[in-house]
Amino acid sequence: MNYKMIDFQKHGDDRGMLVALEENKEIPFQIKRVYYMFETGENVRRGYHAHKHLEQVLICVQGKCKIHLDDGYLTKEVCLDSPTYGLYIGNDVWREMYDFSTNAVLLVLASEIYDETDYIRDYQRFVELIRRQDKNEN
Ligand code: TYD
Repeated sequence: MNYKMIDFQKHGDDRGMLVALEENKEIPFQIKRVYYMFETGENVRRGYHAHKHLEQVLICVQGKCKIHLDDGYLTKEVCLDSPTYGLYIGNDVWREMYDFSTNAVLLVLASEIYDETDYIRDYQRFVELIRRQDKNEN
């Protein structure tokens, strides 16, 4: 599955902690967009989409939340509960975000500007697309 956890270097001293992120360094792509989710309601589950050409790194900079990943064959649940690591998600991965703590701030760094046409929002269509791509590659 096209995802990985990235452990960020921590610059801690007696004043506290600092994490620095640069494009094409800690973040493995050029950052074209940043957005964040906060004040997410209890029991909210959001996302429910995949992207054709978008890389993202998700960082829960405060609080915690869970991410459900699905590549059309396998699923994976990831818990984000620290500002010291990020979840990289590449193309063709269905994602759902859930179990947000009330104080959660989920920061997303993205490789492209917002483009609704890049979204696959229908799960059946997503699975069909994956199957079709795999058939063409083999
Ligand atoms: P939405 O795609 O529904 O969030 P998610 O699928 O991640 O739960 O986005 C909510 C709204 O915010 C929707 O009206 C589109 C808008 N939006 C932007 O304008 N720019 C962005 O970069 C993103 C991610 C969303």
